[in-house]
Amino acid sequence: MSTNFYAIEVRNLVKRFGGLTAINDLSFCLADGESLGLIGPNGAGKTTVFSQIMGELIQTSGEIHAYGNDISKLSTPQRIAKGISRTYQVPRPFVGLSVRENIRVGLMPNSIWQLIFNTSDMAREEEVAMSVGLKASDLEKTVSELSMGDLRKLEFARTLATGARVLLLDEVFAGLTSGEVTMIANLIQDLRSQGYSFLIVSHDLPAMTPLVDRVIAIELGAKLAEGSMSEVLSNEAVRTSYLGES
Ligand SMILES: Nc1ncnc2c1ncn2[C@@H]1O[C@H](COP(=O)(O)OP(=O)(O)OP(=O)(O)O)[C@@H](O)[C@H]1O
Ligand SMILES: [Mg+2]
Repeated sequence: MSTNFYAIEVRNLVKRFGGLTAINDLSFCLADGESLGLIGPNGAGKTTVFSQIMGELIQTSGEIHAYGNDISKLSTPQRIAKGISRTYQVPRPFVGLSVRENIRVGLMPNSIWQLIFNTSDMAREEEVAMSVGLKASDLEKTVSELSMGDLRKLEFARTLATGARVLLLDEVFAGLTSGEVTMIANLIQDLRSQGYSFLIVSHDLPAMTPLVDRVIAIELGAKLAEGSMSEVLSNEAVRTSYLGES
């Protein structure tokens, strides 16, 4: 993909839910190959930003561009086809399907025939599963048998399986053991070295810090600060809002 454009450019985004302004004139850019952290207190609007980039929620006003194209009016499948994919803060697997079938849906998002006729690239499914630390023996399990940590890994696997190059990770470390956090962090570093772009939301700042080039802090849907993690965390407004200091 061209490097002349930002992977994602959010321009003057506003999202209102009735009388609540959840996103308030927010603008930011994610460069191609960059990893950007998005932090803020509970209810700041981080997940709402993700939902709008994916087209699951439509903004009240403002625009979202991907690689120079306005994607603001595209459907979610069209945005996925443009190489953007997300994980969910609360994992959203297809509960009636096995782990393998969940990954298969990610690999073949537009082909229900793939499932009906049970044709698939089994080696690729296994490769994606292994890359996130799922075991071969997990593939035939139904998702109801998975631990929270394995559900998180499956979220990441389904996102990777779409072939996306821009990954939006919402609380990707929540519910993982420290060993699993290290494993997913290593995977993210590996993908960064391959040129993937990331927007990462996490309350686990120590885990997030080495994974991001830059951070944006938001509160009440508006930008409080932007810069390196240490710059943002030393910003007075961020310390008051996010870190609860007065
Ligand atoms: N579908 C919705 N309808 C009404 N209000 C909503 C909806 N989704 C989010 N909100 C509100 O928008 C604001 C931002 O919510 P959001 O979930 O984006 O915050 P967040 O930063 O992801 O928080 P957390 O860290 O707790 O995940 C909150 O006040 C929330 O209650
Ligand atoms: Mg959230």
